[in-house]
Amino acid sequence: MAFSKMIITNNTEETLELGKKLALSLPSGSVVTLNGELGAGKTTLVRGVARGLNINEVVQSPTFNIMKIYLKGNRPLIHIDAYRLADVNSDIGLDEYIGYETGLTFIEWSQYISQLIPKNHINIDIKCLDFEKRELIVSTNNEEILRLF
Ligand SMILES: Nc1ncnc2c1ncn2[C@@H]1O[C@H](COP(=O)(O)OP(=O)(O)OP(=O)(O)O)[C@@H](O)[C@H]1O
Ligand SMILES: [Mg+2]
Repeated sequence: MAFSKMIITNNTEETLELGKKLALSLPSGSVVTLNGELGAGKTTLVRGVARGLNINEVVQSPTFNIMKIYLKGNRPLIHIDAYRLADVNSDIGLDEYIGYETGLTFIEWSQYISQLIPKNHINIDIKCLDFEKRELIVSTNNEEILRLF
């Protein structure tokens, strides 16, 4: 992807705040893929997004559900965790919800459903630098989007 930006967060709260900022600024219909090892902070970022959308439900890793949709906030939030689709046919209808036009879609382990990811998505790679410090690399083809981070 053509444009990228690095962001450092020093603790959980800073990643939550970044998610909140995105909830208030990303255009509806945005698809954000989140990559990074177990415990990197992917779900934590989505929790911040939920906070920014005024969703009061607890956002958990949807590993056992694969997808969870939150409709009670300012905009719909679609949270997908494709981890369990690693070795199986992933044609389970997720495409109906990815890029849901009035909402925001966040996808963990998107490499397992790569055929369903729209070309104009935003990717965030999260790397653990130490116990609390994370490096987030945001990549996109739309330079305008980077300014929102
Ligand atoms: N800077 C930080 N940003 C995000 N999380 C952090 C940070 N520092 C510490 N943490 C902690 O790291 C953990 C991240 O867990 P989280 O569930 O968000 O990871 P994940 O990437 O979704 O993992 P999984 O692949 O298992 O779903 C949380 O316990 C969080 O509090
Ligand atoms: Mg997770």
